[in-house]
Amino acid sequence: MAFSWARVGLLVAGALLCAGAQKTNKDESKVQPYTLPSAFTTPDGKTVRTVKQWQKQRAYLLKLFADNEYGRMPGAPAGMHYRVDSVDRNALDGAAVRSDVSVFLGPSDGAPVMHVLLYLPTHVAGKVPVFVGLNFAVVPPLSADAATRKREEDRGPFAQLIAAGYGVATAWYGDLEADNPDGWKTGVRSTLAGPLHIQPQEWATLGVWAWGMSRIQDYLLTLPEVDTHRIIVVGHSRIGKAALWAGANDIRFAMVVLNDSGEGGAALARRDFGETTQILNTAFPHWFVARFRDFNNNAAAMPMDQHELLSLIAPRALYVASASDDWWSDPKGEFLSAQEAGKVYALYGLKGVTGSFPPPLDTSIGDHVGYHLRTGQHDMMPFDWSQYVAFANRNLKPTGSIH
Ligand code: GCU
Repeated sequence: MAFSWARVGLLVAGALLCAGAQKTNKDESKVQPYTLPSAFTTPDGKTVRTVKQWQKQRAYLLKLFADNEYGRMPGAPAGMHYRVDSVDRNALDGAAVRSDVSVFLGPSDGAPVMHVLLYLPTHVAGKVPVFVGLNFAVVPPLSADAATRKREEDRGPFAQLIAAGYGVATAWYGDLEADNPDGWKTGVRSTLAGPLHIQPQEWATLGVWAWGMSRIQDYLLTLPEVDTHRIIVVGHSRIGKAALWAGANDIRFAMVVLNDSGEGGAALARRDFGETTQILNTAFPHWFVARFRDFNNNAAAMPMDQHELLSLIAPRALYVASASDDWWSDPKGEFLSAQEAGKVYALYGLKGVTGSFPPPLDTSIGDHVGYHLRTGQHDMMPFDWSQYVAFANRNLKPTGSIH
């Protein structure tokens, strides 16, 4: 069963339609040679060799991505506050406590609001780790009618994650900004622009969604039940692109999970396979800042590439996942990008992804950077979630633990 964190058919069809007139390559033998920029090359041509030097380089790279692709990331709005609207202590047949929470993105209750749906497991002693992500269809608050609510809950990964001892916090992405070129007019880019001193054209929709994930984290950090050192940001497809940007900016996220994030996400832009920068900018002109259009059919001119964005997650845990039939997202480009990012992890003495593409199907590889190629289509399946849980169990230490 497909989770509603993944809304597949229609979206892909839309982009394909738009791509109709544009060149897309799905033949591996036609991929042209390309040269990736090195994450270690500083603006003055030196090579980073130490963690200390990397920290400076990291800031430089982050700015490259802000200026050329995703826009500037504002902070939390002053006066942000929360209201718990309802609590069900017997959710998922008693396995979870479910809360519907209004996150007010400003000082008054008239401020723009994001509705967060939070599930915390009841069987875990101590603080719990939590997956944070936006969803395409679970619009909290859930229906009051028990049978409808069960159907709504069944569409999410809630039961699976709760059984594994993880909490889940999610909001509908449309609460922040509608996914269309006019979305900014009614979304937080307009409603928050004044107090945050950032203009709508300085950031774009993916940045807004990323920002929203950090605001969910702000709320989680106020909860004594949550392990603040084990908050994981996760996203599928376009939300995977946003989750990557959220994780790069917000180092409070202990782990970043990118499920089929594709072009503009984990996949290398310079590798001409599947979706291209030009298609992204044409089908979804609102996702990126205007400067990103300079690289339409000209990825080689980018001063950066996506493996460098993955590198910015180091030394935190990073998981990149692809699906074998998802050529549009370029699974090999996602794999190579994750592998390349491992060079920065190596600076910290941590291991990334080794081997060549394709790795064994349906098998998780890599230590601090994880990767799998699931058999099947662009989607987010129980198999994917189970790998993320296992990877988090391996990589994230509970607060207060001594190992
Ligand atoms: C389209 C788009 C992708 C995106 C996907 C999704 O296919 O071209 O870049 O990842 O939609 O969000 O499902």
